[in-house]
Amino acid sequence: MTTNFSILASAKALPTTKVTNQELTQLMATSDDWIKQRTGIRSRHVATDETTTSLAVSVAQQLLQQSRLAATAIDLIIVATMSPDYLTPATAPQVQAAIGAEKAIAFDINVACAGFVYGMQLVHQYLQPGQTALLIGSETLSRLVDWHDRSTAVLFGDGAGGLLITANPNTATGHWLGGHYATFGADGHYLTAGQQPQVNPWSTRTDGADSNRWAFQMNGRRVYDFATKQVPHSIEQALMQARLESSDIKAFVLHQANARIVKSVGQKLNLATEQLPMNIAQYGNTAAASEPILFAEMVAQKQVQRGDKLVFTGFGGGLSVGSVVIEY
Ligand code: ACO
Repeated sequence: MTTNFSILASAKALPTTKVTNQELTQLMATSDDWIKQRTGIRSRHVATDETTTSLAVSVAQQLLQQSRLAATAIDLIIVATMSPDYLTPATAPQVQAAIGAEKAIAFDINVACAGFVYGMQLVHQYLQPGQTALLIGSETLSRLVDWHDRSTAVLFGDGAGGLLITANPNTATGHWLGGHYATFGADGHYLTAGQQPQVNPWSTRTDGADSNRWAFQMNGRRVYDFATKQVPHSIEQALMQARLESSDIKAFVLHQANARIVKSVGQKLNLATEQLPMNIAQYGNTAAASEPILFAEMVAQKQVQRGDKLVFTGFGGGLSVGSVVIEY
């Protein structure tokens, strides 16, 4: 294991179609005001001809261009997703083929909205000095949404984001400083999606026959309580491991599930507004893609500089939570 963990490039890719809250009022009994007040969301992008794979490939291509690295220099490709196009082949091998990263091993992970930070931990543990990884979060959650269920449909969006991470001691400027992860499987039923039907000729089970079991079903209040309790705890644990105070952190790159959750975490940890960047208004909850999309925008807008200390935190289905502290 190496402490070198240097982000050389960051990128995002969004489907071209944008759906406003107002447009959703034509599909379900909701209002722009309710969605804005309860979630902070104003619009989201929805894949029309894009796929989880095509969005991930676009991110991978941008990461290579920015870093001026050949695809053959990549050793590892991880795609975090809960909405892959296929169960097999997974998304990451398709990215590997599309960019020609012949040397890389490639696989997907699914930790729902916490997938990206779990991927950061895997990259950190896998990379040997001199090796390089692409870590991408890519989602087309629109395929898991019942577009007539107002309790979930207003929340989610599609998109992808990613990082090119190196452990090359000669070029790496950044560092891994700490991490904390926790799983609460007994509470997993509070947020479900994508149940697979059992279709063999001998099956006596009927679950999955109901198409609603494919779509998101969420006890929003329970997930809200989980997030506002476990996210601050996870951040505190990760900071303790890094021997840092919250005031040492330039920005907390939190999963964009709900603006109210982000603000509540900020209050509990006594954070300044500038430490809590948000872009949920434009994208909604893009699960594993939300932190890298936000981070790519922060870098593009020069809101982070080399040497800044940052926290990434993801939480959601599982139920799962994870926090990472790095120096950029
Ligand atoms: N439009 C209008 N009214 C609505 C809508 C809507 N879209 N959705 C629900 N309502 C109504 C409800 O029916 C309820 O009406 P009632 O009082 O007459 O019964 C009222 O609004 C309040 O509903 P609540 O569910 O109590 O609203 P709440 O303030 O809890 O907000 C929300 C709901 C936004 C889902 C919130 O609970 C939340 O953000 N939960 C966390 C979700 C989350 O973080 N998920 C992350 C993980 S996702 C992943 O891992 C993939």
